[in-house]
Amino acid sequence: MKNVKEYIEEHKDRFLKELIELLKIPSISADSAYKNDVFDAAEAVRVTLDKAGADNTELCQTEGFPVVYGEKIIDESKPTILVYGHYDVQPADPLELWHSGPFEPVIKEGKIYARGAADDKGQMYMHVKAFELLMNTEQLPCNVKFIIEGEEEVGSANLETFITNNKERLKADIILISDTSMLSLEHPSITTGLKGLSYIEVEVTGPNRDLHSGVYGGAVANPINILSKMISSLHDENNHITIPGFYDNVLEASEAERALMGKTPFDLDHYKSKLGIEAVHGEEGFSTIERTGIRPTLDVNGIWGGYTGEGAKTVLPSKANAKISMRLVPNQSDEEITKLFEDHFKSIAPKSVTVKVTPHHGGEPYVTPIDTMEYQSASEAILLAFGKEPVPVRAGGSIPIVALFEEVLGLKSILLGFGLDTDAIHSPNESYGLENFYKGIETISYFYETFTKNKLDS
Ligand code: BES
Ligand code: MN
Ligand code: MN
Repeated sequence: MKNVKEYIEEHKDRFLKELIELLKIPSISADSAYKNDVFDAAEAVRVTLDKAGADNTELCQTEGFPVVYGEKIIDESKPTILVYGHYDVQPADPLELWHSGPFEPVIKEGKIYARGAADDKGQMYMHVKAFELLMNTEQLPCNVKFIIEGEEEVGSANLETFITNNKERLKADIILISDTSMLSLEHPSITTGLKGLSYIEVEVTGPNRDLHSGVYGGAVANPINILSKMISSLHDENNHITIPGFYDNVLEASEAERALMGKTPFDLDHYKSKLGIEAVHGEEGFSTIERTGIRPTLDVNGIWGGYTGEGAKTVLPSKANAKISMRLVPNQSDEEITKLFEDHFKSIAPKSVTVKVTPHHGGEPYVTPIDTMEYQSASEAILLAFGKEPVPVRAGGSIPIVALFEEVLGLKSILLGFGLDTDAIHSPNESYGLENFYKGIETISYFYETFTKNKLDS
């Protein structure tokens, strides 16, 4: 492939300027106050695809935010890559912890800081620019279709309907996604798994109103005390999850697989120091890479109740609430685990309280096999761009639509992500390395070539 590096070098400042404009749009899908901005971001993405040379660009309306579509069909007999990404972002709060505005992108020490810089606007935009590069250097080797959605961060509820209704239009040979991370630029990796997700809200109710904590304290159940105890009982002293049946369907990794994972170039000291922690914490008998990659987990994401304002108010609250996520691995299913949780959580509640369990959106886990032509093509592309073979790494995060792509469209996904764990996605001061951005564009361009060649050879 010719002129890939040259094209990037020549146009890199413009690429960055364009990305900055996209990052300025506060496309927070979870917050209805930003509804118009989310629509604006969709249109902005459509325009960039159009300018890059895509045909039939369109905002496909759904019951929620639109799916941006675009395509370039050069020859029906050539292979087709379907690119997926998302233009919506997480809420930016807590705002006071940002060093600069979340939607006022700044470049500092080789990184661009903004909400969505890595997740996923910056990574999605690499695909638009790789496509532009291949079009303008007249070397697009295969067909390409884009679906960029606006509801990933809220569970992709309407995308499932969209793909179900557009099977013919979305016909492709492989799905290509950059919405994950790699170990480091020195140790490039390809994501070979995503976790499933069961997300649940619980409410514990005691007395029918808030009470004086002296008059009633010690005599009536305090829902916060009870909820805390129930939550802490969900892990045992070895940090195993105590929900009966929770591990029944977990596909245990073989000794050989674990030995391979043990060779992952992962620096635990760097990991700890970047997080400001003395020690890691997790399931006994497993390494950090195994805990995040192949073991299911349970975490409280938020907990509230009672008085949290200034000063002291003596109150025994009527209610306590928490949001709990469980990250799932093959072959656990969201539905099964949600049911197990619900039954167990209700069963451990004392008679003095009532418990309400409300499931939110979830999703199934996903694995990419590595003994395939598609994975091999991604590996070759990384080798071309980084001069080093990538290692496979299973991610702790979730992209629920990926399992549905396989179920509905019968297509496997290649998770070619270029983020780093230190990008602070979903946190204040999210950033994305400029080198990751440019290397990503380069690697994606090479993937078109390696994949097309390997596909036609096979
Ligand atoms: N891009 C992330 C998922 C991710 C990040 C996977 C890093 C692997 C490594 C995605 O946008 C995300 O945040 N997903 C949510 C799930 C969704 C249902 C809200 C998640 O993992 O919490
Ligand atoms: Mn994402
Ligand atoms: Mn995200």
